[in-house]
Amino acid sequence: MKVSKGGTKMRNKQRKSSVLNFVWGLVGFALIVWLFFTSRINSSHQPSAKELEKVEEEEFRLPPPHKVNPRAVKRRGSHKYSKVIDEYLDASSALHDSFFPSETSAINPQKGGNDSMSFYPGRVWLDTSGNAIQAYGGGILYDHKTSKYYWYGENRDGPTYQVHPEGARRVDIIGVSCYSSEDLWSWTNEGIVLPGERTDITHDLHESKVLERPKVIYNDGTGQYVMWMHIDDANYTRASVGVAVSDSPTGPFSYLYSFRPHGFDSRDMTIFKDDDGTAYLFYASRVNTELHVSPLTNDYLNITSAMRRILIRRFREAPAVFKAKGTYYMITSRCSGWAPNPALAHAAHSVMGPWETLGNPCVGGNEFLRMTTFLSQSTFVLPLPGLPGTFIFMADRWNPADLRDSRYVWLPLTIGGLADEAQDYSFGFPSWSRVSIYWHRKWRLPEGWSRRYT
Ligand SMILES: *[C@@H]1O[C@H](CO)[C@@H](O)[C@H](O)[C@H]1NC(C)=O
Ligand SMILES: *[C@@H]1O[C@H](CO)[C@@H](O)[C@H](O)[C@H]1NC(C)=O
Ligand SMILES: *[C@@H]1O[C@H](CO)[C@@H](O)[C@H](O)[C@H]1NC(C)=O
Repeated sequence: MKVSKGGTKMRNKQRKSSVLNFVWGLVGFALIVWLFFTSRINSSHQPSAKELEKVEEEEFRLPPPHKVNPRAVKRRGSHKYSKVIDEYLDASSALHDSFFPSETSAINPQKGGNDSMSFYPGRVWLDTSGNAIQAYGGGILYDHKTSKYYWYGENRDGPTYQVHPEGARRVDIIGVSCYSSEDLWSWTNEGIVLPGERTDITHDLHESKVLERPKVIYNDGTGQYVMWMHIDDANYTRASVGVAVSDSPTGPFSYLYSFRPHGFDSRDMTIFKDDDGTAYLFYASRVNTELHVSPLTNDYLNITSAMRRILIRRFREAPAVFKAKGTYYMITSRCSGWAPNPALAHAAHSVMGPWETLGNPCVGGNEFLRMTTFLSQSTFVLPLPGLPGTFIFMADRWNPADLRDSRYVWLPLTIGGLADEAQDYSFGFPSWSRVSIYWHRKWRLPEGWSRRYT
């Protein structure tokens, strides 16, 4: 030892007091952690929903990894699974077939039996008349007047093609479909409630254009059902939102207009109606680099001048917003065209932000499935009445080779436990509850689900 005696004493003293400080620090830290645990974790779920939180592993064999050209990786974003995803998107591959099983395994409400009320993510889903449901990029409205759920989405039941070789794969606008249900499993086709336009090429809904992500909310003041959607041209340069209204949940909806909110480009979007009746528009803007959120006017037919930029430079799209115990949550995807990518969960104390990012909500399956949002892209999150903190995560498994054969991935989403990542404003440890989407090959709504909102 090279220290003098006096020096050692001094150090010992210092060491003692620093040990003491450390111990008190620990006690303080433990106290804070305990406070967080008791205040946040109690937001757990009903025992009846517990079965949905079983972690279900998948062990299918992925194709062996290829030698990747580093320039190709750069071009495509350094997704570890880029090659596998390319193979998955190739309609002639076995991998593709395994995630797009044929209609023989379809969810069929006409059959009933043991499979009645079972959700099978990725299978063909038939309506009550035996036709595959066409409601992509959709959302669900619960209607108190009829005590039914209405599922609105893009009808893509036409041929997939490209306008020019670099253009996005597309289907001409057919319109917005609506399906009704009392149990969220057996859906009756209510027809096309907002049809595309065949002749007038200047019309926003002309079949050559783009209508995506329709969402409907009910306005308690005007008694109208209000639909917002993404309106674009085939090259995605219009980048506007469109609005339509109806006196009935099953339409017909009258198309009003489209515009660029606050003068900004607007692509993927959603609307969210808060408990106090205030509704908000969320839209991906500035060439998808950020999201904007704006309150709607009282009649829900326009936006107000208030606007906040959120998730700046995060390149998020496909927003799905929901609320649990006074906290707002959002699931988004990265922007990668029709290819799947990892979802992120976000949370905020106010709809207008600031929004913080919590991490990837996907649980179970395997790493490939978690890194691809179970091969799907978020579109909506539906609260389950009677089960606070339990939701249905709704997503689209896009099939760009034949968009009309895209599939639905519905999975249970719960709020509870601590988020994985320490957040910006939380002194180094997680301060939000975790958002979890649990993989299941087959699942049912848990007991305790009351079917109706009161
Ligand atoms: C339904 O499930 C029961 C119990 O698992 C099984 O014995 C029966 O064969 C099933 N019926 C059908 C039609 O699949
Ligand atoms: C889309 O882009 C292509 C190629 O740049 C162009 O030829 C075409 O006119 C554009 N179409 C629209 C509807 O803007
Ligand atoms: C929406 O509100 C903006 C700002 O107040 C206004 O300029 C615009 O005309 C309104 N749009 C409609 C369709 O009323």
